Amino acid sequence: MDAYLQKMQSVVDKVLLTVLEVNHAFLSLTVRELIFHSFLIGSAALLFLYALSKFFSASFSYKGRHVLVTGGSSGIGLATAVKYAKLGARVTIVARNQKKLDIALEQLRPHCEKTGQKASAISCDTSASFEECQKKLINDKVGLVDVLVNCAGTSIAGSFEDLDASQFENMLRTNVLGSVYPTKALLPAMKDSGKGGRIIFVASQVAQVAIHGYTAYAASKWALRGLAEALQMEVKPYGIYVSVCYPPDTDTPGYEAEMVTKPDITKRLSAAGQVFSSDSVAKDIVQFSAKGYFGISTGFDGWLLKQLHPGMTPCNNLWECWQGILFSGLARLISLFYISAWDAECFELAAEEQKAKRAAKKGK
Ligand SMILES: NC(=O)c1ccc[n+]([C@@H]2O[C@H](COP(=O)([O-])OP(=O)(O)OC[C@H]3O[C@@H](n4cnc5c(N)ncnc54)[C@H](OP(=O)(O)O)[C@@H]3O)[C@@H](O)[C@H]2O)c1
Repeated sequence: MDAYLQKMQSVVDKVLLTVLEVNHAFLSLTVRELIFHSFLIGSAALLFLYALSKFFSASFSYKGRHVLVTGGSSGIGLATAVKYAKLGARVTIVARNQKKLDIALEQLRPHCEKTGQKASAISCDTSASFEECQKKLINDKVGLVDVLVNCAGTSIAGSFEDLDASQFENMLRTNVLGSVYPTKALLPAMKDSGKGGRIIFVASQVAQVAIHGYTAYAASKWALRGLAEALQMEVKPYGIYVSVCYPPDTDTPGYEAEMVTKPDITKRLSAAGQVFSSDSVAKDIVQFSAKGYFGISTGFDGWLLKQLHPGMTPCNNLWECWQGILFSGLARLISLFYISAWDAECFELAAEEQKAKRAAKKGK
């Protein structure tokens, strides 16, 4: 017993001595040396965490898998379908307009053929009903789907008062139910196959920062995040990983159409953000969903916004979790500057509106 205590004492002494030595070494450093050493140690720690994460994170190969992309005839959906095709997947695209699907298929087919795979298209309104999705998406021709990308969506911007109730209904139907129905239709076979898989919900950066003019769109895209967060718990035991993608403004036909209705204030508040290509958003979707990321963002602003929202999101990829732990406080601090600038713009707009109303009343 005495020998054991003596051994423990000498270990404790050694640790204390090392701490004192390190402390002394730090105290004798100049400020510049201290910053340099802190930077080195911080970088080494990050590198270590990154390397460690590689061993404890999900991975997925798309080669020979069947990927079904709703909204795959245009914009982000089409760019994503092309990326999967290049990686050797069989790809099926889904949208309503057959003509647009045929044109998209011409673009997609050569990439699939290069890897010996098939490309096909299905005309289906994913928001029509669950039965419609069951009928069109489950049959021998379509076969088993390993990866489902729910990308079909629509966006109309306008102040809450200016948006019709029907526009709220349309966005909730297309963006939320249009993702629920295909997922409900395809999930049972995905689970039964025992091969695992991926389900991706394409939301929007607006599902992380809902600004003036996006009441309807934000409601629909935030709903997707809740849906995905609950669903991932149900399907992870079957090797199926769920992701939510938060694209920033992206140069697509859908973005062009949205810009026509976007109020000036919404344009001003989002002016600081960069417009990305659908190719870069697609690259992030394909790469990070394979790694099991729950949240998928594009660009630095997207990354920062994601760190603001770790909440109770799952930990399928250690590196994604570490980032949230390390940077969420910093992201919140930066966000306060944006919020105060946006508030100032909104107060200014409200004052202008009040002034115009008073002038109109006087004119009567
Ligand atoms: N572009 C951006 O700046 C941006 C930013 C953040 C998030 N997003 C989201 O990313 C997704 C794709 O956007 P995008 O800009 O690439 O749009 P897009 O160019 O307008 O493409 C939309 C696709 O969805 C299909 N679609 C729409 N409603 C459908 C329905 N009810 N059933 C089946 N297919 C339907 C369209 O084809 P049909 O019309 O022929 O059906 C088309 O293939 C959307 O969910 C959008 O909200 C876009």
